[in-house]
Amino acid sequence: MHITLSSLISHLRWGWLLAALLIAGCGNSAGPDLSPPDGWDRGVAIAPAADVDASPDVVEVHLEARRQRLEIKPGVMTEVWTYNGQLPGPTIRARKGQRLVVKLTNTLPEPTTLHWHGVRVPASMDGTPAAQAAVKPGETFTYEFDLLDAGTYWYHPHVSSSSAQVGAGLYGALVVEDPDEPSFGDELVMVLSDIGIEADGSLTPGDISGWFGDYFGREGDLKLVNGRVYPKVLARIGLPQRWRIINASRSRFYKLQWPKQAWVRIGGDGGLVEKTKIQDFLLLSPGERAEVMWVPSGAPGAVLEMLAHDGNRFHLELPQEPEPLLQLEISKQPAVSSARTLASGPLRTIAPLDISKAATRSLDLMEKSATGGAVLGFNGQTADEAEPLMTKVGTTEVWHLTNSTSYDHPFHLHGYFFQILEIDGVAAPVREWKDTIIVQPGQHIRFAVHFEGRPGMWMFHCHILDHAELGMMGMFHVMP
Ligand code: C2O
Ligand code: CU
Repeated sequence: MHITLSSLISHLRWGWLLAALLIAGCGNSAGPDLSPPDGWDRGVAIAPAADVDASPDVVEVHLEARRQRLEIKPGVMTEVWTYNGQLPGPTIRARKGQRLVVKLTNTLPEPTTLHWHGVRVPASMDGTPAAQAAVKPGETFTYEFDLLDAGTYWYHPHVSSSSAQVGAGLYGALVVEDPDEPSFGDELVMVLSDIGIEADGSLTPGDISGWFGDYFGREGDLKLVNGRVYPKVLARIGLPQRWRIINASRSRFYKLQWPKQAWVRIGGDGGLVEKTKIQDFLLLSPGERAEVMWVPSGAPGAVLEMLAHDGNRFHLELPQEPEPLLQLEISKQPAVSSARTLASGPLRTIAPLDISKAATRSLDLMEKSATGGAVLGFNGQTADEAEPLMTKVGTTEVWHLTNSTSYDHPFHLHGYFFQILEIDGVAAPVREWKDTIIVQPGQHIRFAVHFEGRPGMWMFHCHILDHAELGMMGMFHVMP
């Protein structure tokens, strides 16, 4: 998909953006040539999921969770775990308001499910142990729900061995488009992950290093963008691109940087943010998403490298060299002379949640010693020890997160988006809908959440999936 003049003009209320983009075509009666370089996304494109339902209101997709031999590490074949033989799985694209039907067939050697990370599904469709019995080998389960919110989401298993399953390749993107949003640029979905592949091509066992692996969070040493090592994207000077970036790693944090350019962050976990934010680094913990818009610049023919810095989740202050994650080749096509800064336009209005009657709930992300090492949990209890938290449809709560361990945990809430109120007493700079937030050691994070409907049993946990399995997980019951 790429920008057309008419798609831009249909969004006149986005005047500030138009001003930036339209300068390109002035004086050209045939209209500006806004085409991206030929095959610009071929190096990273993920095959989309086919919609097998003819109705315009329904997107129906069939996914088979199965093993497949693929060349992930250049030069060797690896039997990875996939959806439909793809790693990442097929990108599911739908529009806000449509109904999504996904028929999952499991031909893996163990049970699995699909969790729709960030999507406001009915509780019974959430894919967790609280919601359903896992889909056994040979079985089929159909997920079905309406898409209430535009944004960048993803799907992955949610069983007791999620960490190993995600590490073996089970994840894919779900993009929910809003026809009322403008085209911010040529669109690319970027699923970031990592994988462990041995010299002989075999997959590193998902439970490698036992307790240490759980406690530190396993990172595969191959960093992947859409299942590829160091792939290439082509860009045209001045022609904007919109990237939807998802961190689908089981444990790895990604901190991204362009050497000479800032990121223009336009969206987060739950769609567009209220206003753009310009930032040098883009830090994504497992589960988090960012939508960015940017305008390529550089010399024709130049190859730029996007760098992955150490996410520093252990706070060890050991300087590590950044590694190139992706290359960007600037084409020799004539530049599109759009403005280079897209700084300050309003993108969306997000009403602040009314917290005047909200009760506060405190959760301390902690560890305690146990035989064989340490276990993780909330408020002194592991997932197995804790009773579900109880709340009620229609209530708004303020959750106060603290972290008394000495390393970061990405806290993820199922079923409902939250609004960050403050981090260490400082108000969030931009209002947005979040479902995953990094909690640093010693930090205090306060967020507001409204349980607007969809009663049932939900989960919250650290999205370092090894940590969730070591106990940092809990349930909350939203009563009707
Ligand atoms: Cu992305 Cu409970 O998960
Ligand atoms: Cu954690």
